Amino acid sequence: MSDLNYSLLLPRADRMPRTIAARTRRIYDSVALVYPVSTFFFHSRAHQCALRNAGIRNGMRVLELATGSGEMFRRLVRANLDGQTFGLDLSPNMAARTLDRARRKFPRAQSHCGAVDVRSMPFKNSSFDAVVCCYLFELLSQDDIRLTLREIRRVLRSEGTFSLVVIGQNAKFFNRLYDVAGKLVPAFWGRQVEHAVPELVEEAGLRITSAHAVRQTGYPSKILVARR
Ligand SMILES: C[S@@+](CC[C@H](N)C(=O)[O-])C[C@H]1O[C@@H](n2cnc3c(N)ncnc32)[C@H](O)[C@@H]1O
Repeated sequence: MSDLNYSLLLPRADRMPRTIAARTRRIYDSVALVYPVSTFFFHSRAHQCALRNAGIRNGMRVLELATGSGEMFRRLVRANLDGQTFGLDLSPNMAARTLDRARRKFPRAQSHCGAVDVRSMPFKNSSFDAVVCCYLFELLSQDDIRLTLREIRRVLRSEGTFSLVVIGQNAKFFNRLYDVAGKLVPAFWGRQVEHAVPELVEEAGLRITSAHAVRQTGYPSKILVARR
């Protein structure tokens, strides 16, 4: 059986045997300037929902993984003007853009960003009250989702919250389009993982406390909130 046929038989989350980080970094680096348009049309409603449910209060230490061009990051900084907000992204252009926009908009807030692969994070154990991660897991292999979840649990304090946004799998036609897009440019689209993530989150020792679904311009998102 060819590799392609074989991969079609696997559950979606298993269809990415390896994370292709170098290619992902190059692609997201090259789209950093225009990426805000896609966030505006497809992600902003899910960002709002995640922020409403993430339990973030002013004065916390908050970490966002895979900031992209920084739209969610600025929401987090705005909600946490007297705290510290950290952002990481694999793409140096995305991380630089995120930091620049946040510091210009909120010059008095403590915001910090770096170009870091979140599979291994440069933070001490239990150093954050809240961790937020939107639309990253689609781009990681299942083993790397597990690794990243272990890192998230490690840097979260006890009872800290983890808010996760992934692409929803509840729209058949959208799923088909996404499958095609993911096969054409896997380093940019990855594959859908909504059905696999609740088990992976719980397996990492995080308790899911709420789940929400939103749809924007036909694009489905799932928001999970968990506690350590
Ligand atoms: C689909 S975009 C999502 C951006 C943003 N979170 C949003 O909600 O619009 C995925 C982002 O994940 C970043 N990324 C991919 N793999 C990563 C990794 N291993 N570590 C950190 N960031 C990563 C990419 O550079 C890109 O900016």
